[in-house]
Amino acid sequence: MAGASPHSRGVALIGSGSAQAAQVISNNQLGLRVDTSDEWIQSRTGISTRRVSSPDQRLSDLASDAGRSALAMAGWSAESLDLVLLATSTPDDLFGTAPAVQAALGATNAVAFDLTAACSGFLFSLVTAAQYLRTGSMRRALVIGADQLSRFVDWDDRRSCVLFGDGAGAVAIEAADDDGLLGFLLRSDGSRGGVLNLPALDSDEVLAADARHRQGGYRPIEMNGQEVYKFAVREVPAVLQDLLERCAVGPESIDWLLLHQANQRILDAVADRFAIPRPKVLSNLAHYGNTSAATIPLVLDEAVRDGRVRSGHLLASSGFGAGLSWGAALFRWQGPA
Ligand code: UT7
Repeated sequence: MAGASPHSRGVALIGSGSAQAAQVISNNQLGLRVDTSDEWIQSRTGISTRRVSSPDQRLSDLASDAGRSALAMAGWSAESLDLVLLATSTPDDLFGTAPAVQAALGATNAVAFDLTAACSGFLFSLVTAAQYLRTGSMRRALVIGADQLSRFVDWDDRRSCVLFGDGAGAVAIEAADDDGLLGFLLRSDGSRGGVLNLPALDSDEVLAADARHRQGGYRPIEMNGQEVYKFAVREVPAVLQDLLERCAVGPESIDWLLLHQANQRILDAVADRFAIPRPKVLSNLAHYGNTSAATIPLVLDEAVRDGRVRSGHLLASSGFGAGLSWGAALFRWQGPA
């Protein structure tokens, strides 16, 4: 782990990457399984297809592919990394999947660990990694958001199964004199957490005479969609407003609104709140649905690679989801033009 110069207190975001799950599932395919329709799903969510991992596609495969591609864009060797931080709620291994990603990348000098904050996980991880760079204790970090919620969705529950998909995205960040992370705010409210859960199994079994135990494992996702929707359209504009004021940045200065991709109606409501024109709102919901911790780096990577997001552009980002957890970050993209 290399130390950065004591003058390197800024953070530069300079590379992005993403990886896709193997299978494309359309709304019409879901309509053959549950009582739903392409028209209902598109009009309520903006989603038309989502990607679902093949049975042999591991989370670490997606995360490593996304990470490798971000390293290539940044022009870094894997050995130069000090940190691999993996945001996920669906690890291959509950003890942590980041070390498997570190090994797959060959990031032999990096410490690697997972961070779980559901759909806010990428934003929370970006901010966490940035702190190591700001203190000068690390120089280069790879922040990956990857999830395979397809493995925890009840595919017979039409209220939730139509929303989610799998994917991974990554961002390479480096200590720099020119600070690209203008500000951030992170929030949690566990008292409202019951509206979106991936809960542990709660059945008990006999272990021995006079002793019982509870086997580990999880039930499928349970969600009160309306309450999550209300939470998002209330808290996301509020936290963004707070952040913009603290940074003394007006909405008109934002080049791109980079929100967690949960529902097109949520993206539109937040954009309207700040009078941000629709072409400045990054969205790939139509093709991916909600990929949880992966949505923000995935849609960012697409926009960087197709030339919409360019070096020097200012992005206002917000993640939100289970926990409840939410937050915002204001950053300048400093990758290849
Ligand atoms: O990262 C955060 C993850 N979660 C979210 O972002 C979820 C946020 N919430 C939402 O996106 C929306 O609440 C949903 C898309 C989940 C639902 O949209 P809604 O406009 O809030 O619908 P609703 O729950 O009020 O349901 C309206 C009707 C109900 O029928 P009745 O009771 O009016 O007869 C539902 O049973 O739509 C029905 N419905 C469906 N119909 C066809 C619910 N899901 C479906 C479906 N297909 N897939």
